[in-house]
Amino acid sequence: MAKSLLAGNWKMHGTAQSAAQLAADIADGLASKAPETIVFPPLVHLPLVIAELADRSPIAVGAQNVSQYPEGAYTGEVSAQMLADLGCQYGLVGHSERRTLLGETDQLVADKFAALQDAGLTPVLCVGETLDQRQQGLTLPVVKRQIDAVVTRVGLDNVCRAVVAYEPVWAIGTGETATPEQAQEVHAYIRGQLTEQGRSTRLLYGGSVNADNAAALFAQPDIDGGLVGGASLQAQQFLKIAQQMVEQK
Ligand code: PGA
Repeated sequence: MAKSLLAGNWKMHGTAQSAAQLAADIADGLASKAPETIVFPPLVHLPLVIAELADRSPIAVGAQNVSQYPEGAYTGEVSAQMLADLGCQYGLVGHSERRTLLGETDQLVADKFAALQDAGLTPVLCVGETLDQRQQGLTLPVVKRQIDAVVTRVGLDNVCRAVVAYEPVWAIGTGETATPEQAQEVHAYIRGQLTEQGRSTRLLYGGSVNADNAAALFAQPDIDGGLVGGASLQAQQFLKIAQQMVEQK
């Protein structure tokens, strides 16, 4: 299996019509030699995106969020099994927007990670430091703490079966990207944390990835792919990033 992986996080953008169109445009534009690709549409657009992609594209679909509980009286929540029933194969956990804006703790992230795996979905675990933490030299300890919380909950083997995305918080949606060297340093560190089993774990970089900076990032040995936010909302940009990945990997 090729290791490279491109993921698009659509966040809370779009309408039913634009989501279906974006999915169709990406499916139509992906060359036959494309990296494995996942899109993460808003929850309510999952069924229509899955329907749009069915029978015409190998693009996988993931959910941006999941409940930590398998079922019960949790008004407004959606379980991992419900997502699996829809046809989702992946789920994002630990995104910095949920950690910082919605107060998700390391423990909650670990519980959500476990819930996804229990339902047969592959978690994409996001980790990353704030600007303040980087300036204080805390980048690696913060990333280690975020990963360790999940390792404690599900065990190292299960973390190694997932996808890990390093997303420095200061680079998300800011137009400021980690340099390829900064990103590689953290990726190599994460790879080291995962030990032997983690050699095949896919490590994505995220944070203002676009068609202009993608090639230099994907050229790094421990960057297996990208988690793209803003630039994944325009099919042409996203397809250019896919092309850069094919050229580098
Ligand atoms: P961005 O978002 O590419 O817009 O910085 C990345 C992410 O939040 O996953």
